[in-house]
Amino acid sequence: MQTVPFGNTGFNASRLGVGLSEIGSQFSISDQGQATTMLNTALDAGINFLDTSACYGISEILVGKGVAERRDDYFLATKAGHIALGAAGEEWTYQTVVDSIDRSLRLLQTDHVDLVQLHSCGIDVLEKGDVIRALQEAEQAGKTRFIGYSGDNEAAHWAVDSGLFATLQTSYNIVEQRARTSGLLEKATDRGMGTIIKRPIAGGVWGKSRPEAGIDDAGHYNTPYLLRAKAVRALGPIEDEPADGILTALGYTLGDPNANVAIVGTTNPSHMATNISQIDNDLPIPDSVITELKQRFEQLDKDWTQRT
Ligand SMILES: NC(=O)c1ccc[n+]([C@@H]2O[C@H](COP(=O)([O-])OP(=O)(O)OC[C@H]3O[C@@H](n4cnc5c(N)ncnc54)[C@H](OP(=O)(O)O)[C@@H]3O)[C@@H](O)[C@H]2O)c1
Repeated sequence: MQTVPFGNTGFNASRLGVGLSEIGSQFSISDQGQATTMLNTALDAGINFLDTSACYGISEILVGKGVAERRDDYFLATKAGHIALGAAGEEWTYQTVVDSIDRSLRLLQTDHVDLVQLHSCGIDVLEKGDVIRALQEAEQAGKTRFIGYSGDNEAAHWAVDSGLFATLQTSYNIVEQRARTSGLLEKATDRGMGTIIKRPIAGGVWGKSRPEAGIDDAGHYNTPYLLRAKAVRALGPIEDEPADGILTALGYTLGDPNANVAIVGTTNPSHMATNISQIDNDLPIPDSVITELKQRFEQLDKDWTQRT
């Protein structure tokens, strides 16, 4: 698995990471075995980046029970700010963030994580500063090695411009390119931040957007991306486009040098294996395809703001 320098953190991140919101919301404790198998498959293949959050259901529990003993094999990123499963308190307060980090360490069965990110709060919360202070104190206490921001649009620009964070996580993919067109990713890279790409394959909708697939619904979360993909395809066939839609989506996102690690979300071990194989064997996709996808996004983007 290819690795790249993750900003100025001194860590070399695998280009493919594991997004862990799906297993947290779709698995139950009885699925621990499948979760452990999927995590070990990823780590054995050279993936060294795991992204979870306090509010991803049982995600942190599954990671802790599954691979705590392999803690040195991965860069462990979590998030704070929302009220986690079964926790009390108010979102986006200093105390909520402090308690959330301690809870994450307990569930992940580790004395430190590598990264705690603010989970997509707005500029008002960032400017208030309490939650940033909570993160900085956790870093000083050795509970986390780095602090970061996960979010989009104006708030993501605020976070990068502030110089307070070592990493940025943001939505970026084949039908979601504002992180490129707004200069966000380039600016973050220029400031030595590590960049983490969420929603990196647009929920897997690119292949589903082919007219012959006859799919009009990709679920509440991904249908907006499906509609964008259909609009992009409506401009006509794309010469030399790979047959596999997931490969094209991975190729677009990882074709961007300002995208360090793509945290693809999956609950399916065979999808995990396919994604690993495509990154190891089938990239890059043709530059001409990436250029065409960029031109079409810029042509069609009227109100395609970044989706959280
Ligand atoms: N605000 C935030 O901080 C925020 C917001 C969104 C996401 N995230 C992070 O980013 C991660 C990824 O985002 P995402 O899950 O929204 O989007 P994504 O990674 O672009 O897409 C995930 C979807 O693609 C499917 N998929 C994966 N590999 C596939 C394959 N080989 N073939 C067919 N389908 C495949 C998965 O279904 P299967 O389970 O069937 O594979 C899942 O439905 C999340 O897990 C989370 O860690 C963070």
